[in-house]
Amino acid sequence: MEINVELKAIREVASELLVVGLFEGAAQMEGATGVVDKALGGAISELIKASDMTGKAEQTALLYTRGAMPAKRVLVVGLGEQGKLTPDGVRRAAATAAKAVRKLRLTRYHSLIYGIGTGGLGPTEAAQAIAEGTILGSYSFTRHKSDLTDVLPALEALTLVQADASAVTAVKQGASTGKIIADAVCFVRDLVNQPANYLTPTMLAETAEEVAGELGLHVEVLEEAQMADLGMGALLGVAQGSEEPAKFIVLEYNAERTDLAPYIIVGKGLTFDSGGISIKPSEGMEAMKGDMAGAGTTLGVLQAVATLHLPLRVVGLIPATENLPSGRAYKPGDVLKSMSGLTIEVISTDAEGRLILADALDYAKRYQPKAVVDLATLTGACVVALGYVTTGLMSNNTELAQAIVKASAKSGEKVWELPLYDEYGEQIKSDVADVKNTGGRPAGTITAGLFLSKFARGFPWAHFDIAGTSSSDADKGYVVKGATGWGVRLLVQWLRDAAEGSAS
Ligand code: BES
Ligand code: MN
Ligand code: ZN
Repeated sequence: MEINVELKAIREVASELLVVGLFEGAAQMEGATGVVDKALGGAISELIKASDMTGKAEQTALLYTRGAMPAKRVLVVGLGEQGKLTPDGVRRAAATAAKAVRKLRLTRYHSLIYGIGTGGLGPTEAAQAIAEGTILGSYSFTRHKSDLTDVLPALEALTLVQADASAVTAVKQGASTGKIIADAVCFVRDLVNQPANYLTPTMLAETAEEVAGELGLHVEVLEEAQMADLGMGALLGVAQGSEEPAKFIVLEYNAERTDLAPYIIVGKGLTFDSGGISIKPSEGMEAMKGDMAGAGTTLGVLQAVATLHLPLRVVGLIPATENLPSGRAYKPGDVLKSMSGLTIEVISTDAEGRLILADALDYAKRYQPKAVVDLATLTGACVVALGYVTTGLMSNNTELAQAIVKASAKSGEKVWELPLYDEYGEQIKSDVADVKNTGGRPAGTITAGLFLSKFARGFPWAHFDIAGTSSSDADKGYVVKGATGWGVRLLVQWLRDAAEGSAS
């Protein structure tokens, strides 16, 4: 959808619908909302007096202006308490408004830019948050529905109204950044929601090639023969049970800037994880079409970073395969030789993500990267530990972990760091090989992280376990049921911070 910005006095906005924000329990209405209240002869004050609306987050009220203003309807959206508003609160309010507008079956509307001056929000940040909340909250995945009668029409355009000329540039800047980031998140959601018969490793590679073509990125897709030449025995071990050929996707933004050490994003690209010979229970197995969420986010970050023209070199690495049982599949007890030379005893063929990432992390070494981060739907144990709210973070570098935590706070995508203490290493010692691929039930997220750390050698590295956060089972604010596109906002923020740091 479009996000436009218009310099106009509020009373002059002609629109099907105008959104205004309302704080909870404020003695006085915020400037712009107050202007609308006055124009409507105190209709918003009346709502509050009648206790029909308090301004609590997620509340809305619809008013008809009946000629008192050129806008036909006013939608009042709750912002919660004034002192407590955060960028995330603005995102949620924008999502609430967007959903209400969709329910009215309207497709074009206007909004005031609420939140400026609270919670550290300038006009840029507020406009960015509104753009993000609007696009993310109105997302829906309808690609495989043939009957669209019950599907609400998609939004076409939101116009942000700014009455103060001096803030227009800042608002435009924020709106544009927010749109670029949110579009990238929705692109990821589409990929992750896509069933595995519509997104094989080959189709994922084709998607990467399309993105590269549109944005002028460098792309290379390695075939199995090339992986064999490189010695990627761990990735090929996982892939050998599937009829679909594995792909190793390399995507580079600013590839020609070989003077810069790149930032590398590695994404787990299991287009379907049945567990292999260590097969999963059939109940809920369909969710494993989303086991390529890390790969999706990798593509989304590259798309956003290129569209934002960040002055960095960024590489995306995606090992992509299916994990299926067959007469040719790898088996528990097999020993695989990884590209790094380390040998791995396979205890469970369902602990396949760490195997394909092992080879990708070793491949990253050749770039002498500034930093490497990986995203993976890696362990059910992470869902047990942190639920669906928080991503598990693990790192071999304090400075990198701190930069990520900072970007997490700014973006609203939550992480919590887990320790990679040496003692946990006992659990993944093998009797027959250098390491084994599972460490039992205790601290399953950490032993997976520790396994990866053996292959992430010689560069600052951080690992995101997104098993719990990559999809949602309910609509909540700007998160909609299904794929979330987790990580795009955090990583783009991290890279923007890095670009700023290297420029100054
Ligand atoms: N893709 C799964 C992890 C997963 C679980 C993602 C739930 C999203 C939701 C991963 O490949 C896996 O199967 N992990 C095993 C590891 C175990 C065998 C050590 C797990 O968590 O059970
Ligand atoms: Mn698995
Ligand atoms: Zn998996």
